Amino acid sequence: MELLVIGGSGYLGRQVTRQARLAGHSVVATFRTSMPPEPGVDWHKLDIRSRDDVRALALRARPDAIINAAYLQSDWATTADGGMHVALAAAATGARLVHVSSDAVFSGIAPSYDESSPPDPVSPYGAAKAAAETAIKGIAPAAVIARTSLIVGDGDSKHERFVHALAAGSTSGALFTDEVRCPIHVTDLAAALLEFAAAPYAGICHAAGADAISRCELGLLIAARDGLDQAAIPGAPRAPGTLPHPLDVRLDSTRTQARLATRLRGAREFLAPAPSLFCRKPEFRTSQLVFRRRTSAAMAATSTGPVVSTVISGPMPTGWSYLSIADSGSVPRWTSCLDRALYRA
Ligand SMILES: NC(=O)c1ccc[n+]([C@@H]2O[C@H](COP(=O)([O-])OP(=O)(O)OC[C@H]3O[C@@H](n4cnc5c(N)ncnc54)[C@H](OP(=O)(O)O)[C@@H]3O)[C@@H](O)[C@H]2O)c1
Repeated sequence: MELLVIGGSGYLGRQVTRQARLAGHSVVATFRTSMPPEPGVDWHKLDIRSRDDVRALALRARPDAIINAAYLQSDWATTADGGMHVALAAAATGARLVHVSSDAVFSGIAPSYDESSPPDPVSPYGAAKAAAETAIKGIAPAAVIARTSLIVGDGDSKHERFVHALAAGSTSGALFTDEVRCPIHVTDLAAALLEFAAAPYAGICHAAGADAISRCELGLLIAARDGLDQAAIPGAPRAPGTLPHPLDVRLDSTRTQARLATRLRGAREFLAPAPSLFCRKPEFRTSQLVFRRRTSAAMAATSTGPVVSTVISGPMPTGWSYLSIADSGSVPRWTSCLDRALYRA
């Protein structure tokens, strides 16, 4: 498939381009500020506020499908008009369109929202997302509008970085105990979007995680997974009227999930440390294992066993993936807390 990923330089867009390339698709992707170092992608600078530029790129790329993950929370012209421009370009080229929308189109007054729920936004951002949805439905009725929730990954999302900054004391604030969302793992969401692009879906789809949890619980789960001090993650209710922002928005993705091969895991599942793969007698080969340590240097100093404690930062190297190590009593002492490691697949 020839795929055009608009907003390919963003957090979600990078995962979509990566998975699309690995699946053998030919990928054209866009950035607005700086070109990501992702190889094997035909990168183009694009500002979706320009209807002509979006159309020109689509005519040049002639994609089978377009996935639009571009937005700017505070900019109506990008989020609303830009979404419309992409729909016009998809219609002009006959490409399938998958547009990423948000749970922000809802007020949170209803207990939950399924694919048939009409938008009732309470924030300018939610209104811009809802306006884009309306334009897309009119211009490209065969498009998929995929509403999602907080996007979390393996340490690199803005939500996870904030939790780490709180734990490190490099930022202040608290995580709201009463602001509820259905976070989704970025790899699940990207896989679902690629499914939408390849199959005859049309209309509104909900692609959010299975668990409705507060931002505070999300932060504590991230802290537990990453070996951070949970006591350093403050929680507090949101003060009334402080933000034009919905409080408790639960996306019900049941109907969409029933049609997807991709499982939309809940945060309690994807943030839980995986069961130990080394629960008997672990043999750590330094050539194969590199540990990602996020706990204190003091703990690392108590390490025993033939392990390396190199800290890996930055993007996951190709061919590596995560696993977890659980305490079994027979593992080296410094893995006696739940930890994650990188290993060659
Ligand atoms: N992150 C979440 O928790 C969350 C929750 C619900 C819904 N969503 C939705 O998920 C989608 C992706 O979110 P994300 O977190 O991946 O966003 P992100 O990391 O902020 O990426 C946004 C992308 O949009 C591009 N962009 C911004 N303004 C643009 C413009 N005027 N013209 C062209 N491109 C522009 C950015 O390009 P540069 O980086 O090159 O400037 C970047 O590629 C969005 O539709 C968002 O509404 C996200």
